[in-house]
Amino acid sequence: MERVINVSNRLPIKVGAQLTKSSGGLVSALEGIRDRYDLHWIGWTGAEIEASQRQQVTQRLSDEYGAVPVFMTEHEAESYYLGFSNASIWPLLHYMQSYADYQDDWFDTYVAINERFAEAVLSCAKDGDMVWVHDYHLMLLPSMLKQANTSLRVGFFLHTPFPSYEVFRCHPRREALIRGLIGADLIGFHTFGYLRHFRSAVMRLLELESDIDVIAHDGRETRIGVYPIGINGPGFKQMLDSEQYREQLASYKKLYEDKRLVLNVERMDYTKGIPRKLAAIEEFLESHPDLRESTTFVIIAVPSRQGVDRYQKLIEEVELAIGRINGRYSTVTNTPIHFIHGSVAFHELCALYTRADVAMVTPLIDGMNLVAKEYIACQGDDPGVLILSEFAGAAQELFSATQVNPYNVHEVVDALKAALLMGREERRAAIEPMKERVTKQDAVWWANQFITDLAQVSPTPAAAPSNQKLSGDVLKRLTEADTRKALFLDYDGTLVDIVRNPEQAVPTKQLHTMLATLAKRDDLDVYVVSGRAPEFLEQHLGHHPVTLVAEHGYTVREPGESWRLYNDSVDLSWKQRVRPILDLYAATTPGSSVEEKRSALVWHYRKADPEFGRWKSGELIGELMESISNLPVELHHGKKIVEVSSQQVNKGEVMRYYVSKNDYAVVLAAGDDQTDENMFALRSPNIITVKVGPGDTAAAYRVSSPARFGEFLDLITEEISSQ
Ligand code: UDP
Ligand code: G6P
Repeated sequence: MERVINVSNRLPIKVGAQLTKSSGGLVSALEGIRDRYDLHWIGWTGAEIEASQRQQVTQRLSDEYGAVPVFMTEHEAESYYLGFSNASIWPLLHYMQSYADYQDDWFDTYVAINERFAEAVLSCAKDGDMVWVHDYHLMLLPSMLKQANTSLRVGFFLHTPFPSYEVFRCHPRREALIRGLIGADLIGFHTFGYLRHFRSAVMRLLELESDIDVIAHDGRETRIGVYPIGINGPGFKQMLDSEQYREQLASYKKLYEDKRLVLNVERMDYTKGIPRKLAAIEEFLESHPDLRESTTFVIIAVPSRQGVDRYQKLIEEVELAIGRINGRYSTVTNTPIHFIHGSVAFHELCALYTRADVAMVTPLIDGMNLVAKEYIACQGDDPGVLILSEFAGAAQELFSATQVNPYNVHEVVDALKAALLMGREERRAAIEPMKERVTKQDAVWWANQFITDLAQVSPTPAAAPSNQKLSGDVLKRLTEADTRKALFLDYDGTLVDIVRNPEQAVPTKQLHTMLATLAKRDDLDVYVVSGRAPEFLEQHLGHHPVTLVAEHGYTVREPGESWRLYNDSVDLSWKQRVRPILDLYAATTPGSSVEEKRSALVWHYRKADPEFGRWKSGELIGELMESISNLPVELHHGKKIVEVSSQQVNKGEVMRYYVSKNDYAVVLAAGDDQTDENMFALRSPNIITVKVGPGDTAAAYRVSSPARFGEFLDLITEEISSQ
């Protein structure tokens, strides 16, 4: 059986004198797939466990539940859980920038606790296991796990919204958080909107390319997908069939015999919009005196995160408002709001759901909102009405609920009145199709969808079969004594990493040593074949006795010679027609610019908005294709550039010249982008072609990065210098 290690901030087990299993959606989701997977849980115990007790607790959790606890002190919990997780990230994920605090020491603890979770996972994970990480408390964990063991299949699910980039970018640690997440092989969100925002943040903060369902980075892929969570299906079914529930329902029916019951269930959290809801209730009572006596509002607000200031302020605000409303509108026979700042037992909750004529689920924002789905699941033949905020993730699925904008108090009041007056057939027509959906697509279905997709990811990119040969067989051919050999090496992305500012992509010390060693050999010629200007190559590599080829082959400098044009009859008159087109795109695409090279014109859009830049690049290419079809130019769409260059100048042309001029027994050509494909197109048994990095290629071999290629060049250097 495949193993799934499930990691969440809290363990689904309450640690006390007895261990008791809690019953959230996540627990039931995973219990529902226990027959197919060997499940393990890792999480925090939720309260500080004294050092003397820890060993015993660990043992009991392992024996009774196969679970591994993560311990933290009260001070650490304050900093990691109340501080960084709930006073810093939570408000931002929910568009409440003004509530978001930040302290460096919170982040330090967050890193340390994520590391502690990583240690716990790694202590029990076996190679190839699936690890499913949950929620915003553990955003750094996926990368930590992946760095420690690339064979793990790491999934991450965000249970909250992911906000617009403009909001997420406010966080002082935004890059670290996003980098932490993309360590995962699969990242799941409740809605497509959250996925879209996440992609946008990845593209803008990390400057990575992303397709709709995948982010390519560091030579591997992170898949992203939409998996809306559902209710604990079997748990509700079982409860609705129970005697305990029936008795409770009968008792509520009697208690509220002559009342219309409006139910509100949520954690006491500012995202749930309780003060605005109270404003709507107050307006309703004020404007509908005829309905006052017959309507009772039950508000169950489950205490939450009371160690965070904002939550304390909310409690005060809510209690004050409820006191005022009840004071103003109570009569001897009716109190409008029954307020419970606490939780109710599951059978009571289900009975209330069934008895309630209306459920008011009006969060200002909510990742999903299970209460809405649970209410629907508990409706029978004479169902109630669900009033649902359009800002809850659930609104995407619960299409026939009465959807409202919770910020518009009048709209909520109107919806409430309409709900109380709605006829039975209309209520049934609204609830039934949604009921089918929430009962079928429950939490078990959700977990199955996610785990099935996670099981299919390939945790490490399949090593190109040619990689192996590159260091064995190829190395032998390239280092054979007494044969003439040549290396044609592209510069950016092959000998050095691509960086944001090209001026900073200078040769490393190691590269200098290697070039110096190789260039000493009489039987080996080195060519650095680049798109760079001659000045740059001269400045950084000019002292090596190697052939420098600049501007994709427009100018060359052989060892000991000066720079010259490779072909002095190149026609460059086309530039006058192309330049105005590129200038127009630079003017209309903020952040982009035009670079004029001697034999080429380049439009750069690395600093433009990534999506806008990509779209404009497509437009530019379309326009150029039409207007330059009869000009002697080549069009190349590279990494954040569109380049128009002379057809008479390319790297392949120069390489062909030197290869035919010299009688090399073996030639290696290596490069990372489209301009190097001209070298790879030269086919001959003595030419070995190597693509560095991902992407389509005609090269025979591939290595994943400049670093890997550097290792291979080191092997050549070592072998040659020992001869
Ligand atoms: N709930 C509970 N005890 C209660 C009232 C509600 O455990 O007294 C549960 C409710 O059944 C639901 C969960 O709390 O499953 C709330 O989940 P939701 O997605 O609505 O909001 P969250 O609290 O995750 O923001
Ligand atoms: C939200 C979060 C969960 C969290 C729950 C209760 O649903 O997405 O990760 O467990 O609220 O919050 P708490 O802070 O009590 O764990």
